[in-house]
Amino acid sequence: MLTLAAAIVYFAVGYVGVEAATPWTAKPFNPASVPLAVRSPYLSAWLNQGQGTALNDAWPSFWTGSTLGWAGFAKVDGMAYNWMGVPAIPGVTFEKATQKSLEVTSTQSIFVMTAGPVDLTITFLSPVEPASPTNQSFPFSYLAVSAASNDGKDHIVQVYADISAEWISGDDTLEAQWNTTVGDAVIHEVQLAAPQPFVDIGSRAQYGSAFHATLKTADVTFQTGQDIVLRTQFINNGALPNAEDSNFRAVQQNWPVFALAHDLGPVNAASSPVVFAVGHVRDPAIQYIVQGNQLQQRSLAFWSQTASIDAAITAFLNDYSDALERAKTLDARVDSDASKISADYASLMPLSVRQAFGAMEVTVSKTGIDGFNGSDVLIFMKGISSDGNVNTADVIFSAWPLFLYINPMVGKQLLLPLFEYQATGQYPNAWAAHDIGATYPNATGHNDGNDLQMPVEESGNMLIMTLSYTQRTNDTSLIRNYYNLLDQWARYLVQNSLTPALQLSSDVLAGALANQTNLAIKGIIGIKAMSEIAAIAGDTERSTNYSTIASVYVQDWEKLAMSSDGTHLTLAYGNSSSWGIAYNLYADKLLGTDLFPKSIYDLQTKWYGSHANPFGLPLDTRVTYAKSDWQMLTAATVTDDSIRNVFISSVLKYAADGKNAKPFSDMYSSLDGTAQDPRARPLVGGHLALLALQSNASIFPSSPSDSTGSSGATPTGSPSEGSGQPVAVTVTSTASIPSTPGGTNSAPSGWKGTLGFNVGAVCISIVLGVFVY
Ligand SMILES: *[C@@H]1O[C@H](CO)[C@@H](O)[C@H](O)[C@H]1NC(C)=O
Ligand SMILES: *[C@@H]1O[C@H](CO)[C@@H](O)[C@H](O)[C@H]1NC(C)=O
Ligand SMILES: *[C@@H]1O[C@H](CO)[C@@H](O)[C@H](O)[C@H]1NC(C)=O
Ligand SMILES: *[C@@H]1O[C@H](CO)[C@@H](O)[C@H](O)[C@H]1NC(C)=O
Ligand SMILES: *[C@@H]1O[C@H](CO)[C@@H](O)[C@H](O)[C@H]1NC(C)=O
Ligand SMILES: *[C@@H]1O[C@H](CO)[C@@H](O)[C@H](O)[C@H]1NC(C)=O
Ligand SMILES: *[C@@H]1O[C@H](CO)[C@@H](O)[C@H](O)[C@H]1NC(C)=O
Ligand SMILES: *[C@@H]1O[C@H](CO)[C@@H](O)[C@H](O)[C@H]1NC(C)=O
Ligand SMILES: *[C@@H]1O[C@H](CO)[C@@H](O)[C@H](O)[C@H]1NC(C)=O
Repeated sequence: MLTLAAAIVYFAVGYVGVEAATPWTAKPFNPASVPLAVRSPYLSAWLNQGQGTALNDAWPSFWTGSTLGWAGFAKVDGMAYNWMGVPAIPGVTFEKATQKSLEVTSTQSIFVMTAGPVDLTITFLSPVEPASPTNQSFPFSYLAVSAASNDGKDHIVQVYADISAEWISGDDTLEAQWNTTVGDAVIHEVQLAAPQPFVDIGSRAQYGSAFHATLKTADVTFQTGQDIVLRTQFINNGALPNAEDSNFRAVQQNWPVFALAHDLGPVNAASSPVVFAVGHVRDPAIQYIVQGNQLQQRSLAFWSQTASIDAAITAFLNDYSDALERAKTLDARVDSDASKISADYASLMPLSVRQAFGAMEVTVSKTGIDGFNGSDVLIFMKGISSDGNVNTADVIFSAWPLFLYINPMVGKQLLLPLFEYQATGQYPNAWAAHDIGATYPNATGHNDGNDLQMPVEESGNMLIMTLSYTQRTNDTSLIRNYYNLLDQWARYLVQNSLTPALQLSSDVLAGALANQTNLAIKGIIGIKAMSEIAAIAGDTERSTNYSTIASVYVQDWEKLAMSSDGTHLTLAYGNSSSWGIAYNLYADKLLGTDLFPKSIYDLQTKWYGSHANPFGLPLDTRVTYAKSDWQMLTAATVTDDSIRNVFISSVLKYAADGKNAKPFSDMYSSLDGTAQDPRARPLVGGHLALLALQSNASIFPSSPSDSTGSSGATPTGSPSEGSGQPVAVTVTSTASIPSTPGGTNSAPSGWKGTLGFNVGAVCISIVLGVFVY
């Protein structure tokens, strides 16, 4: 087989830009899975491939691995070629296009496939739109196909794509219904006949609709119906009869598919692309706990700015060339910034940015039945393969460097649901909650206090993220609005972080442990962060007190945490044969707090340099697996660039090793580079840890005038009750907290500006139920 020989060449040559591993060139490398349409927890289509699976060697699949029917054909001078999926059509023959190249960027996956005398360029664009909450919220991806002659002659080309009803359910025995709207665009919509709001089967939403659409140009034809019927129709005729099958049936009964075709006519030089949109839309998207245990229903933010889904899809299709330009600008910026660190580092970015954004949904609330509130943007994040928890604080912490680097406002809007919920007083514990809901899309809280508890971890995370957000933006609204909560968590850390009790850290799968060195680091930095927060609030006494405590703790900690021979930090106090990667030191760098002495960084750097396994540094001495996110945070703390590069090249070696065939897993064997169970998690945002330290400047900076958020209603946090440790918070009056500096009211062209918001005109016509369940 090709694969074995190719793999040998591959390892001999290196990891990046290698042509030998597969018959096609790959840039930067062939990933374990190619992101195709990755924009939300429910729009997540991938090509699992390892080494050697072309776009037409397998069906695309959901992040879980379940099949998403998505087929592509082209006709070239009357000959049919299959370029996507593996459709079988009894009695009908066609050729298979040959994959020539694959390029993956932060937002795009671009295949070139040879179909006889024509090369097809097939671009999957999943926009990352950090400058616009409405655009980021739109759960659609582009598929664009262009054709170019490869022999200098003209050729007649038609292009076909379909999706199956597998896009709407985790249970293919359920009945689907569908229709096609022909206006400025041809829009196929398919949904369950009996939708169940907020219910998942196999991590797939059981309500909402899948869409497949293209602009209605003169050359477009369409059809709905049985897979083999439609594909045969195109193969025989190069066009579809604009016919609809209204015999609604189960997803898997004579597999209904939703097809679109374009006739490009004669092609020589590269044609302009024909563009298809695929999407999956639910409304409402999230149920969210507010005051008094009430549930608020929240919609994707784009609803606040559109009259209908058809209008939004048409605008999305019309926007393709601009969206592509925005995407190329973002791709180039990330690549160029990351390349300043190293080429290997830049190679990791394409698997990081889109995967992290694809775990989130940007929402606004509905007010009454006649419209949407566009000014209370909250973002919800699914842990994806981490049990589906909602807005897990330590998952957000992992991904935090990405948000600081791209647009800190995204980070704020992810933290707000955690703050708002805990400020209602319904969460009973003295420490910060792990998440705001056990199972996405139910952000329904933990009023019993029985979330997965990580008291020191999450309290430290909330303080660190709040301060770093404020430092980067000068927006003090989180500090002003949630000062009591922040102080409550700092008090908890004063009592519990120097010698942390037996408990979990973020590394749940490694188990609970007492006196964790790395966890204590997070807690102590959390106390220091509160000192800085208090200083920003003008609360000097408190600031000095916390700063003193943090400094004393560092000295005590160093004695407790050092191995007896003084060569390394332990994993747990007193166990000199234990060690781990002390990734929480990253926060000391991020915040510029310089709390831990340089000698600690130097010592750890040396230790890491002599303890790497073939695929990097294991998490700690309890396990052999490595974490890609924590290794990148650690890489940002070492004092020797050659050791930094060990971390970077190890993660890249794993990412490109061809041993895995599923969406990128942040957890893998440090010994042999095989992936562990997790996949597609947003934690990969942590890969941008080095970028986030490069400068304070974000690609889309937020400014103080950006302070959107529904936080205003709860100016002071509420002390928790029932924790056995009542926290009597006496807080400086918010009046003494400086108001946001700058005083400019001019909304930037970014996040706030885009959404703010002339809903009056467009939203009146929105009727709930347009395509609700
Ligand atoms: C069909 O179209 C109508 C109006 O365009 C829409 O409201 C409805 O939800 C669609 N039905 C299905 C089954 O897709
Ligand atoms: C969300 O909550 C609803 C009840 O409101 C429940 O029916 C549904 O199964 C829950 N969804 C998930 C994914 O657990
Ligand atoms: C958002 O998308 C629309 C098309 O749906 C486009 O016209 C607009 O320019 C985009 N806005 C930004 C800020 O990217
Ligand atoms: C925040 O304030 C500091 C000090 O005034 C200033 O140097 C910095 O540019 C500001 N940052 C932003 C993002 O406004
Ligand atoms: C410093 O903070 C701790 C923890 O909140 C508190 O117990 C102590 O009384 C404070 N000390 C002073 C001098 O304010
Ligand atoms: C944690 O470390 C402290 C200080 O060495 C020690 O007193 C305590 O017994 C340790 N706790 C556990 C559970 O080992
Ligand atoms: C010390 O750490 C090592 C490595 O994690 C572990 O195998 C051992 O059980 C630990 N010893 C104690 C006494 O906890
Ligand atoms: C950059 O961040 C550091 C903290 O990491 C802060 O001390 C400094 O003032 C910031 N610089 C600017 C220009 O905002
Ligand atoms: C929209 O949300 C903001 C922030 O929560 C709130 O102040 C405002 O009253 C809401 N508007 C409506 C019309 O409900």
